[in-house]
Amino acid sequence: MNRLEGKVVLVAGAGGIGGALARRYAAEGAAVLLGDVDAAGAAAIAGEINAGGGRAVGVHLDGGDEISIAAAFAECRDRFGGLDGLHANFATFVDGNDGIGILELPLEVYDETIRVNQRGFVLATKAAIPLLRERGGGVILYTSSIGAYRTGPSRVAYAMAKAAGHALMRHVADRHGREGIRANTVAPGTILHPGNAAAVSEAMKARMQVLVPLKSRIGRPEDIAGLSALLMSDEGSYINGQVICVDGGVTMRP
Ligand SMILES: NC(=O)c1ccc[n+]([C@@H]2O[C@H](COP(=O)([O-])OP(=O)(O)OC[C@H]3O[C@@H](n4cnc5c(N)ncnc54)[C@H](O)[C@@H]3O)[C@@H](O)[C@H]2O)c1
Repeated sequence: MNRLEGKVVLVAGAGGIGGALARRYAAEGAAVLLGDVDAAGAAAIAGEINAGGGRAVGVHLDGGDEISIAAAFAECRDRFGGLDGLHANFATFVDGNDGIGILELPLEVYDETIRVNQRGFVLATKAAIPLLRERGGGVILYTSSIGAYRTGPSRVAYAMAKAAGHALMRHVADRHGREGIRANTVAPGTILHPGNAAAVSEAMKARMQVLVPLKSRIGRPEDIAGLSALLMSDEGSYINGQVICVDGGVTMRP
């Protein structure tokens, strides 16, 4: 499908899911600027897209840094003439998954998680809206996590940052929906990809699968990209202000 023909999409945060987002947006016809602190990783994905006949560029983008974000958005405008969609997808996982609770959580780890995962989405939003306005509207998508709803005994800073992003998204959807800028959040369940699968033992995978009602399979990056492409395109033109969990039915929120 070519639902994004003629559109320009900036994907902030490459990696497993961001790579799938960039590939899918490009496959749907968009020109894609993919930014990441791992500039080489972003450039490699962009290279693959270009080799396959798509249009992409990979650049350095530090989501925690206002100047770096401004530079990436400026490059997007210079290269592709403007912006129709932002997908804010990057995340730091510095608060780990090793049983650390609020009492043990070092404040530097909390601060870094909030700086990148929460404040970073604010910076990206502030950079995107003026460019989207220039085109008469557009789309902002945020990647959250079902951890924002199912906050467990560890990774509290990560969950807090994601939950705050839902409030940011609803603010944008309300205030800027009026000028044709839609905002929605995609909240993945567990998604395995080459970047994280090695850290998950077969026993852990089996325990994760049991939690998923849908055919007991763990999620893939393409599951996130499929919904995101719909939301980014005009097929999602009446969807605004929503958090949609893509988790095989783990959360089943009413
Ligand atoms: N994989 C999962 O199970 C899962 C589940 C729920 C939510 N998510 C969310 O999906 C998104 C993508 O996760 P992923 O699984 O692809 O992880 P990933 O580690 O493969 O990708 C994250 C990317 O963010 C980049 N990044 C980190 N700090 C950055 C910064 N300051 N500026 C710019 N880029 C930065 C990393 O370099 C990496 O490329 C994240 O927002 C994550 O919270 C993932």
